[in-house]
Amino acid sequence: MKQKRNLQKRLTRMLAGIVISCTLLAVAYLCYAQTPEDRAASAKAFVAASEVFSHPRCVNCHPAGDAPLQGDESRPHAMMVKRGPGGMGKSAMQCSNCHQATNLAGAHMPPGGPGWQLPPEDMPMIFENKTPRELCLQLKDPARNGNRTPKEVVEHVWTAPLVLWGWNPGTGRTPVPMSHDLFMKNMTEWADLGATCPE
Ligand code: HEC
Ligand code: HEC
Repeated sequence: MKQKRNLQKRLTRMLAGIVISCTLLAVAYLCYAQTPEDRAASAKAFVAASEVFSHPRCVNCHPAGDAPLQGDESRPHAMMVKRGPGGMGKSAMQCSNCHQATNLAGAHMPPGGPGWQLPPEDMPMIFENKTPRELCLQLKDPARNGNRTPKEVVEHVWTAPLVLWGWNPGTGRTPVPMSHDLFMKNMTEWADLGATCPE
């Protein structure tokens, strides 16, 4: 008799445990799961932000080929400048020979920013000719984005000097077409709502 009651007690406790765990899981799901509305809003915010990534001020340093690009038509960089080892330029054509830590004053003078260079050849972070979906998938992929989480990508575009240069590109160059505040609002929304990529 006593054994039976003990067993009943244990079963009751086990059941209670299961019910409580399930309730907690359900609550967590409701609080944290991405709803279809979240997914749509996240993807939409990325499409808006992608206008910046696809702008020549960003594309010119994130080219598909082996050399930086120049101007609003993204033509190959003059003087046969190439990506070179680590993205720093080749032999006599090191980026830092001409590009300083700030823009040099005057038309057609080299623009500048701290550590002016291309991404390295083994992690080229290509933005040129990418659809918003392709851009998004790349920005989310640690093997192609410098091992970053979506939140860290957002942090990068918030503070990195070479990114901020796009809003202050020097004499004669068109800045990226969206305020940095609005760009950050779109990027933050994208990441916070689950970093969904558009179709
Ligand atoms: C002078 C060249 C240069 C310009 C201009 C530039 N970048 Fe970059 N960018 C780099 C380099 C070099 C890296 C790699 C450094 C690193 O990983 O920390 C990089 C890395 C990144 C990354 C992190 C890697 C990734 O793909 O997630 C993002 C995001 C990014 N850039 C966005 C931009 C945006 C947006 C613009 C334009 C507003 C821009 N960059 C303009 C050189 C540039
Ligand atoms: C021999 C000097 C020299 C070297 C070396 C050099 N550049 Fe330039 N670069 C310039 C000059 C000058 C301009 C401006 C041209 C103009 O505005 O007509 C320029 C413009 C650019 C632009 C265009 C910005 C825009 O959006 O229009 C980018 C990007 C760039 N350089 C990246 C690099 C990178 C990356 C390296 C190294 C791999 C490099 N450059 C090496 C002189 C140089």
